[in-house]
This record gives sequence, C-alpha cells and structure tokens, in this order.
Amino acid sequence: MYQISHYTEVNIGGTAIMLDILANSKTSVKRVVVASSRAIYGEGKYLSHELGNIYPEHRTAEEMDKGNFEVTYPGALSPLQLLPTDEESKIHPSSVYGITKYNQEQMVMTVCPAIGIEPVAFRYQNVYGPGQSLSNPYTGILSIFSTLIKTGKPINIFEDGKESRDFVFISDVVKATWLGIEKPEAAVQVFNVGTGVATTVSEVASLLIKLYNAETTVKISGNYRLGDIRHNYADLSKIRRRLDFEPGVNFADGLRQFTDWVNTQSIVASRYDESIKEMKEKGLMK
Ligand SMILES: NC(=O)c1ccc[n+]([C@@H]2O[C@H](COP(=O)([O-])OP(=O)(O)OC[C@H]3O[C@@H](n4cnc5c(N)ncnc54)[C@H](O)[C@@H]3O)[C@@H](O)[C@H]2O)c1
Repeated sequence: MYQISHYTEVNIGGTAIMLDILANSKTSVKRVVVASSRAIYGEGKYLSHELGNIYPEHRTAEEMDKGNFEVTYPGALSPLQLLPTDEESKIHPSSVYGITKYNQEQMVMTVCPAIGIEPVAFRYQNVYGPGQSLSNPYTGILSIFSTLIKTGKPINIFEDGKESRDFVFISDVVKATWLGIEKPEAAVQVFNVGTGVATTVSEVASLLIKLYNAETTVKISGNYRLGDIRHNYADLSKIRRRLDFEPGVNFADGLRQFTDWVNTQSIVASRYDESIKEMKEKGLMK
C-alpha cells in the first residue's frame, strides 16, 4: 500500500508526460485545469493570541502517544484558534501524496503559461458523493464507515474523534470545476474548493449511523495514522469573489444523497481489518 515511487511516477511523472505532449506537439488545448488538493497545505492555519497567524508543524508520535492530538506551536501559550485555510497559506504537506500534488500543481502552473496555455488549479477539500469508490479501505472516510456499518462491524474512530475535515459534495466540485473551465477570470489562478465548514469525524460517524438506521458500536480508540492532519477547512473568499462560486449542498443533504446511493449498491466485505493490520505492521498507524 505504501508505494512512494509509484505515487511519484503517476502524479508527477504522469503530469510531466502530459506537459511534454502539450509542449512538443500542435494541439488546440487552450486551458488545463489541475485537480490539486488541500493535502498540499498539511496542517491548517491558526491564530495565536501571542503570535498572530501561524502554521503549526506536523504532530509528533510522542505527543499523540500521550493522547495530545491538537496541534501546538512553540511560543504560543494560549489555545490556538483554527482558521480557514486561504490560498496564501503555508504549503507544508505532511504526506507523500500532498508533496506529489503540489509538484503536479506547480508544474502545470509554471509550464502552461510558457507554452501559451492557461492553467487553473483547484485545491479540493474532501470530495464525496454518489459514485465514489466504496472498496478502497485506505481513503474516503465516508466509504470506510459506510462499509463497516453495512457489514455490521464496529467503527474504530482514530484520535479522539474531534479531528475535522471540510466535506464538499461532488456536484459543487463539478460546478467549481466548470467555472474554472469557462470563466476568463479563472486563468492562471489557484482556488480552494470546499464548503468552508469543518465537520468532526465523530459527527460523520453519528450522522451515517443515523441515516442507515443502524446499531453500530463506535469506539474512539486513540489510534492514529502518521501524516494525518488534525484540521483543515477552506477559506472560500477568493473563489466567491473571482468566480462567483457558492457551495450549494450542505453536509446533511449531501450525506443523505450519498447514503441513498450506497443503499442501492452491493457492499463487498470490507478489507478494512486487513488494511489496519498492514498499516500497523508498516509503522504507519499506532
Ligand atoms: N477525492 C478527493 O477528495 C480529492 C481531493 C483533492 C484532490 N483530488 C484529486 O482529484 C483527482 C481524482 O481523484 P478521485 O478521488 O476522483 O480519485 P479516483 O480514484 O476516483 O479516480 C482516479 C482516476 O484516475 C485513474 N488513474 C489511476 N491511476 C492512473 C494511472 N496510472 N494512469 C492513468 N489514470 C489513472 C483511475 O482509473 C480513476 O479514473 C486526483 O488527482 C486527486 O488527487 C481528489
């Protein structure tokens, strides 16, 4: 599961091949839209009473082993206030995936203008909706939890369950991407795409259990995955201002559409236990 050179080959190498073709052949391509990710930001932006805006580094295993899951920052004494991440926020990915996504974004944003093509980058938050993969146990918390619930297994919530993400419904992602293809104002720009709302993992589990009308055991385990961030949600000021984008589907409505769709699918037994075992063996999860 942890194939660093493969990730690099696909995300960076694949983008390089595409740019080589665009640079070295005659094409009618006018614009390239790159599906970048909030993963490039790593931990989000925070306000420190003492220090102003700060970008905490990745959490250490030492602190998380003690059950200290919130981020900290040297010299910041009072509790940090989570802020939405804007496009000018520090780029400091905490995963190989995030590193490759930033490379991909930079390559598109740098090479395209030099060859007469307009680049646009969208940094999507956590995308979800009908049609997403239900079988990949390493990613997509809604799919993982849904599969566990539907196969009568307990849910193991990592950390203390208060970690949060900005879940954005697929139709909003399509809407933003379409604006990025059509609008002149999008050219050579980078935009966040999300809802601007942070939802905790515990809330996600409760809402799903309710929607499936299930009786699932939930265990908040204190387990954690190295490289996972604590919180991140999008500042949408730029995309609102420049592209007139407004997310149209709130989490409750989107989740209902997602679970309605899951209810029509045949659920394959979860490879979740296997994936947990593998991550533990590789030292990626504690
Ligand atoms: N899903 C999210 O929450 C999210 C968030 C931010 C960014 N993104 C980005 O959006 C894009 C699509 O993600 P997704 O979640 O829809 O993923 P997905 O797994 O549903 O789709 C990925 C697609 O890429 C194809 N693919 C995989 N390996 C390939 C290869 N070696 N060569 C050619 N094609 C290959 C797959 O067949 C599939 O069609 C990715 O670039 C991802 O990094 C996704």
